[in-house]
Amino acid sequence: MGLFSKKTKQSAQRPVPQHIAIIMDGNGRWATKRGMPRYGGHAYGAETFRTIANYCKDIGVKYLTVYAFSTENWKRSQEEISTIMGLLGKYLQEALLDMEKNRVRFVFSGDLSRLSPELRDMCIQTQERSKDYDGVQVNFCLNYGGRDEIMMAARRFARDCMEGKQSPENLDEGLFSSYLYSAQVPDPDLIIRPSGEKRTSNFLLWQSAYSEYVFTDVLWPDFTPEDLEKAIAEYNQRSRRFGGVK
Ligand code: FPP
Repeated sequence: MGLFSKKTKQSAQRPVPQHIAIIMDGNGRWATKRGMPRYGGHAYGAETFRTIANYCKDIGVKYLTVYAFSTENWKRSQEEISTIMGLLGKYLQEALLDMEKNRVRFVFSGDLSRLSPELRDMCIQTQERSKDYDGVQVNFCLNYGGRDEIMMAARRFARDCMEGKQSPENLDEGLFSSYLYSAQVPDPDLIIRPSGEKRTSNFLLWQSAYSEYVFTDVLWPDFTPEDLEKAIAEYNQRSRRFGGVK
């Protein structure tokens, strides 16, 4: 606890990225290493998420985007899918109860139509009831895929053109962004992928054009605020030029 407070104090002395995104990877390997079924790692991963979301709020991160379930994750066993959905349901139930105290704003990115009606309702309720809170905004990517998001946006734009609300000549990056799930959210400054894997896995394909990536071998359930601090320190060493020159 002492260390944690000291870290929080130190945090105030250095720039903090406005938007951090995380691929919460390594839950399965973490569980397997401990002789547990791989889906057992997700409960620990969910605890890490709570710790990191609170820490982000404490140090003044404005947006935290997490990859909770991808469009490809449906290929996993029914047992594993149910475990993840169950954890999300439990988390949202608690979030709805503690909303006034925590003041976290929740936004869901992804095709929610494939979720159970109960979970979908909880997502909609959580988003609606938290929309005016001023704490960190947590963007949950749920049944989310970067390619799927871009196709969804293209479809919506085409529909607006057919209905005469838009015309193809007007399309620029800003307008296209407004059709994405992430409309209104600035692009992520820092994307962290734990667990030693070094790929984007269909996460924020459009939004990550100029994000800084930090990779670490730590498995997500073991990821601590100190690991986040290390990633922020690495980010602060980078020179962001957005294609220009300094
Ligand atoms: C990737 O690890 C993780 C997921 C596919 C699911 C992430 C979900 C959670 C952390 C729980 C969600 C709940 C809340 C409340 C946020 P992996 O299973 O692919 O790990 P592996 O690469 O070691 O197999």
